[in-house]
Amino acid sequence: MRAQDRTMRVKIRSLVQQVALACAALTVCVLVFQNLAHSVREAGEGERASPTFPVIHGWPERAPRSLNRDYELPAGVDNGVAAGEDDGSHDEGAGMEEEEEEEEERRRGLLNTLVATATTKPATTLDDIFISVKTTKGFHKTRLDLILKTWFTLARQQTWFFTDTDDEDYQKKTGGHLVNTNCSASHNRRALCCKMASEFDAFLQSDKRWWCHFDDDNYVNVLQLVRSLAEYDPLLDWYLGKPSIRAPLEIINRDNVSQRISFWFATGGAGFCISRSLGLKMIPIAGGGKFISVGEKIRLPDDVTMGYIIEHILRKKLTVVDEFHSHLEPMRFLNTDSLARQVSFSYSQYGSEMNVLPIDGLQSRLDPTRLLSLHCLLFPSISYCAT
Ligand SMILES: *[C@@H]1O[C@H](CO)[C@@H](O)[C@H](O)[C@H]1NC(C)=O
Ligand SMILES: *[C@@H]1O[C@H](CO)[C@@H](O)[C@H](O)[C@H]1NC(C)=O
Repeated sequence: MRAQDRTMRVKIRSLVQQVALACAALTVCVLVFQNLAHSVREAGEGERASPTFPVIHGWPERAPRSLNRDYELPAGVDNGVAAGEDDGSHDEGAGMEEEEEEEEERRRGLLNTLVATATTKPATTLDDIFISVKTTKGFHKTRLDLILKTWFTLARQQTWFFTDTDDEDYQKKTGGHLVNTNCSASHNRRALCCKMASEFDAFLQSDKRWWCHFDDDNYVNVLQLVRSLAEYDPLLDWYLGKPSIRAPLEIINRDNVSQRISFWFATGGAGFCISRSLGLKMIPIAGGGKFISVGEKIRLPDDVTMGYIIEHILRKKLTVVDEFHSHLEPMRFLNTDSLARQVSFSYSQYGSEMNVLPIDGLQSRLDPTRLLSLHCLLFPSISYCAT
């Protein structure tokens, strides 16, 4: 009895020791892995957050649409918006502390991510994205038809059109996804900011992890959009897109006209995406229609206002994603071998000259924008592609 008891105890002790050893080894492994992943991640972020962007030759540099007389009016002569309204003021002295806090927050975010990754982080799918397309009543026929015939078919449930009128015909064609923002149909700053505000608020009301805004002259390569977003964690703050100017935009600080503010913004015409985490941080500044008053205050258009809110007020950086393309780029310079890896495309017309993708396909009479041909290139089995 005694001897048996003792052997039993020895066996149990050795088992406990083995388990403890295994636990210790596992903990070390997890810690090493976390550190490694952290530094890899940090290195990657350092690269992305670099304040200088590659100079792309041959692009028409875009002067912001609104650097005009309206913008140059002195503060106080504006449309009844009080100068110095307190939504953009920023205490520079608090900068360092904020940065440290941010760093700590980021670390915590990364740890959470790692834990999530180690268990079951759901992969990004199309259903995680709220896609908004800005349009206006005059373009339903000319522009929405093209979208409805092409990329919308791949993202019917996720895509919503933000316009400025009721339109029963297109309400039906979009499967009830046409939103009348009640904004003005003109192309002025206020109307543009009004629609962007409406898109932002609709995203907040959705349960999606990402918001991607596009214009009605964009072709969105839906599959690549999903693949691109899958590289970023929506639990962190992301502002993804592409600038159309080569240096940060510099504007007058409306709170102190002797100062200047500079920041990057993603050009709206190429599309941009914002993670839910960042969207939530924007609520106090831009939620519930407040986006419009920020635009009024700095007197700049919707996409510039977005950059101002994110980069200047919230101090988050734009991450450049080169696969977004607006019509401010010459489409003929896009490498036609890599079209499937691009996120967005556009087209435009300067006088008689068309700025379109240099691709074969349908006759230009049938497809002046080349976007139908692009769709056929990406999805050759579609019926209208066989001509
Ligand atoms: C536009 O106005 C109508 C009528 O007042 C309202 O029902 C609708 O909710 C408004 N749309 C938005 C996006 O606020
Ligand atoms: C405005 O900016 C100038 C120059 O940076 C500074 O000297 C001045 O104190 C500022 N005024 C206010 C009210 O912050």
